[in-house]
Amino acid sequence: MATRGPLTLGILASGTGTNFVAIADAIDAGRLDAAIRVVICNREGASVIERARSRGIETVVIPHRDHPDRRSFETAVVAAMNAHGVELVVMAGFDRLVTTTLLTSFPQRVINIHPALLPAFKGLDAQSQAFEYGARIAGATVHLVDDEMDHGPIIVQAAIPISGSDDAETVRQRILAQEHVIYPLAIQLFAEGRIEVDGRRVHIRGEAQPTPEAHLISPLPRR
Ligand code: GRF
Repeated sequence: MATRGPLTLGILASGTGTNFVAIADAIDAGRLDAAIRVVICNREGASVIERARSRGIETVVIPHRDHPDRRSFETAVVAAMNAHGVELVVMAGFDRLVTTTLLTSFPQRVINIHPALLPAFKGLDAQSQAFEYGARIAGATVHLVDDEMDHGPIIVQAAIPISGSDDAETVRQRILAQEHVIYPLAIQLFAEGRIEVDGRRVHIRGEAQPTPEAHLISPLPRR
């Protein structure tokens, strides 16, 4: 049976691009059977652009401000994704809400990473929201994108403890480190064809069962 080639990715980014780097590194390390065909950025000068270019990855800057509305902007994004043969759209530090224009062009093939354990702490500064709320466990979520903000079916989550010695920045950094682990993991599940969406729930074929001691407690019990 002909083996399919690597899953082709289109990255949608707006800022620093550390999730893009984590995905590109996973591909280079042979941990992710994918190929980044294009990085599309809506903000000129964003550092993700140089990070992509320095890796020889095609970049397209489409300033959303150049478009009269979301439909026009997303039509340009879809055209660029299709021109590069993208199969999976990966939003990585992308700061715009998307609409059906993008979503109908890539049904069940647009994913995002959010730095909180959805459905908690949707929206901006989710890491600080969790810290200020006094949460003792926070984390990150990779989810399918639908037409509501931070709402689509959840694919992968990772949790981190928050301790009394933390501040908003240490929490943000600890979450970010987990983002860089779970995003390549989630994309590899797509590459292996193991993702099955059933309403709100995502079934992962061949998923390992949680072990009884697989939990996270914060604060840790005294040894
Ligand atoms: C990350 O915390 C991501 O979850 C959020 O934006 C932050 C920066 O992402 N969406 P990146 O470094 O630009 O990938």
